[in-house]
Amino acid sequence: MTVTARTQVGIVGAGPAGLLLSHLLALRGIESVVVENRSRAYCEARQRAGLLEAGTVELLRAVGLGERMDAEGLEHGGIYLQFDGVRHHLDFRDLTGGRWVTIYAQTEIVKDLIRARLGAGAQIEFEVSDTEVGDLDTGQPVLRYTDAAGERHEIRCDAIAGCDGFHGICRESMPGGLVRVAERGYPYAWLGILATVPPSTDELIYSRHSDGFALHTMRGTQVSRLYLQVPPDEEIERWPDDRIWAELSRRLAIPGWELRQGPITEKAISPMRSFVAAPMRYGRLFLAGDAAHIVPPTGAKGLNLALADVTVLATALVQLLTRGQAELAEAYSGTCLSRVWRATHFSWWMTSMLHVDPDADEFGAQLQLSQLRYVTSSRAAATTLAENYTGYFPLTWSQKGR
Ligand code: FAD
Ligand code: DHB
Repeated sequence: MTVTARTQVGIVGAGPAGLLLSHLLALRGIESVVVENRSRAYCEARQRAGLLEAGTVELLRAVGLGERMDAEGLEHGGIYLQFDGVRHHLDFRDLTGGRWVTIYAQTEIVKDLIRARLGAGAQIEFEVSDTEVGDLDTGQPVLRYTDAAGERHEIRCDAIAGCDGFHGICRESMPGGLVRVAERGYPYAWLGILATVPPSTDELIYSRHSDGFALHTMRGTQVSRLYLQVPPDEEIERWPDDRIWAELSRRLAIPGWELRQGPITEKAISPMRSFVAAPMRYGRLFLAGDAAHIVPPTGAKGLNLALADVTVLATALVQLLTRGQAELAEAYSGTCLSRVWRATHFSWWMTSMLHVDPDADEFGAQLQLSQLRYVTSSRAAATTLAENYTGYFPLTWSQKGR
């Protein structure tokens, strides 16, 4: 037997995009149901992003989610770019007239959001299976799933948000032939670790070394997060802890500086790709975040884009569902895609400039080094990096509604 219900917005996926959308809609009096195929514990522990643009931070504060982020987040006004064994500092505040970024882990944003939503009495169904969406070209699309106890549900909605990540089902539920995909693969991957050791740097270090890229970032004052470029098909078993530390120390080395080492609590290899699916909407189905686009992690745009999409979507859904006006819903895909393509270019550019391409010749390597010298010597070039890194597009959320 199928249990039937109704809500205004059905949301597939309890990642940052789905959860923030549910929160923003609730602030405008719109009801939603979130379905998620993983457990709450899994969603809260999944190690991913850590860096928030200033606009993302201001949005989270404006919607009542800033308390722990302000207490525990680390504000950074620049980065280090390292190549040829020399570390250069880029001062974002100076270059952009005061802009900055914040280190606050995606795990913590997800915990804050789940607590806020459940505290407000919202319905989040964890551990669902066989999620399906249908009737997307009607005014009453349907969301179907099987709950953790094995019971089948069917929810009639006014709109559905596909916030189910790159491997979700919503993008695939759009009619064949409608979605155009633009993508790039990269001939490398990232091995990321989390280590219980205070960071060895005050700001992030992006290092291009002839053996490959390395990044030193952090998760607070007592935990370091570091990444190493590895081959795309690399196996984690080939990287015991002492090999990881030796490689990081070598790729990040400069005279007079030492990398502190500590117990590694987590290690994983992530593939890298650029992927943009357009349009991000079909009828009453709206895609948001990684469900529609993926960037390589260099430059830290994925989470910021996901949160920006749902901020645009929440405003569009308020207009559509409370006033019956479809103007913003119709503009949704185009509005998001201009931000997405800027971030796609920036992430591709940072990635291509900093990694060692195993297929590149001397010409390619010299172009990378020339670009790095330019970015660290020309104020105009450094400003281009800084304004994209801190967030080029403003993020608007009106507290009063529209
Ligand atoms: P997701 O977080 O993928 O959430 C989608 C959710 O949908 C998941 O919980 C999934 O379980 C659920 N789901 C999937 N299928 C179904 C289904 N059929 N039914 C129900 N639920 C389903 N971004 C940054 O901005 N800054 C960074 O510093 C950064 N660093 C990164 C480092 C790494 C190593 C990686 C891998 C990513 C990084 N990113 C970063 C990217 C960022 O983590 C993602 O862009 C972000 O998670 C996207 O959020 P989302 O909500 O769109 O998707
Ligand atoms: C982090 C990840 C990134 O890809 C990046 O460019 C900066 C920071 C992070 O995980 O903290």
